[in-house]
Amino acid sequence: MKYILAIESSCDETSVSIVRVDEEGERPRFTILSNQIASQIPLHTVYGGVVPEIASRAHAEAVSSLTYQALEESGVSLSDIDCIGVTAFPGLIGALLVGVNFAKSLAFANNIPLIPVCHVFGHAAANYFTHEDLKPPYLALVASGGHTSILRAKDYTTFETVGRTRDDAIGEAFDKVARVMGMPYPGGKEMDRIAYLGDPEALRLPSAAIADDSLDFSFSGLKTAVINYLNTCAQKKEEYNKNDVAASFSRAVVSSIIKKLDLALKRTGETRLVLAGGVAANSHIRAALEDYAKRHRNITLYLPELSLCGDNGAMIAAQAYFEFMAGRRADTTLNARAVMDD
Ligand code: KG4
Ligand code: ZN
Repeated sequence: MKYILAIESSCDETSVSIVRVDEEGERPRFTILSNQIASQIPLHTVYGGVVPEIASRAHAEAVSSLTYQALEESGVSLSDIDCIGVTAFPGLIGALLVGVNFAKSLAFANNIPLIPVCHVFGHAAANYFTHEDLKPPYLALVASGGHTSILRAKDYTTFETVGRTRDDAIGEAFDKVARVMGMPYPGGKEMDRIAYLGDPEALRLPSAAIADDSLDFSFSGLKTAVINYLNTCAQKKEEYNKNDVAASFSRAVVSSIIKKLDLALKRTGETRLVLAGGVAANSHIRAALEDYAKRHRNITLYLPELSLCGDNGAMIAAQAYFEFMAGRRADTTLNARAVMDD
């Protein structure tokens, strides 16, 4: 196994990547030869969020040329590709179907094995590029616009969900609060920036860590508390300070995450902690986890490279490698699935 081509189209980024695998050594090393990403964000910004129909059409327009570009940039020809990985679930169904059908045609027309990949496991796999020592078992917080879960990786392809959000994903909550404050979609990154300028104690907000002994979160209550505050200010024609709102919201998110991850680490006895997903780019969350790892010397923290936090094909290629090694193959009946579990 040397070259993997992978396709990602689960939400608002079309991506095709070619990754080289070096199998000598204890754990294979992955090198990104090309990671072509076409972001659809400008198309969706005018609507304040992702419009599924528009996303599907944009994937259909982009996927072929991105594949040509990835092959050209990597200097690898299709006949040298050993397997094709594709995000098959979870995600927007129409968006996923574009990638799945394209990957199927490419794979079966060229007699290349096709490997279906879980998008959420792919996010965790983004960490294998930077951290050559990372191996299961580990605990991963996968936090993005669509998912928030604490996963326990038992081996490279077996994950147990030990905690999850019961409603909104973290990224979704960031984006909605930002939107009510008039910031363009997706507002998560801008919330990160302005949180440094505000007072994290300005607003008293509920925790997103569910107050029981589960490892679950509820970001909807936290989001609603902030939005209620913003609406009340608007009704009373009172000014509010965006920086203070972002700082207080970020503080509540960070402390909820630390609380449940601390419990999850203690309960499972895992010593490796992985952060993954678009929200893994959040500098406040990264700093808080680094601080946690400093205070808990038995924990080794793995943070993904910033460029690999958001949706991309390279992370799907890395996970496809391990799925291939575990014997997973798709045939021509492969279908996409919107949800994580059957
Ligand atoms: O993983 P991703 O690219 O797509 C999904 O699978 O959902 O994650 C996108 C999410 C968006 O909600 C975006 O606002 C959020 O990640 N995000 C951030 C930051 N950068 C991206 N949220 C908070 N702070 C950031 N720095
Ligand atoms: Zn994602």
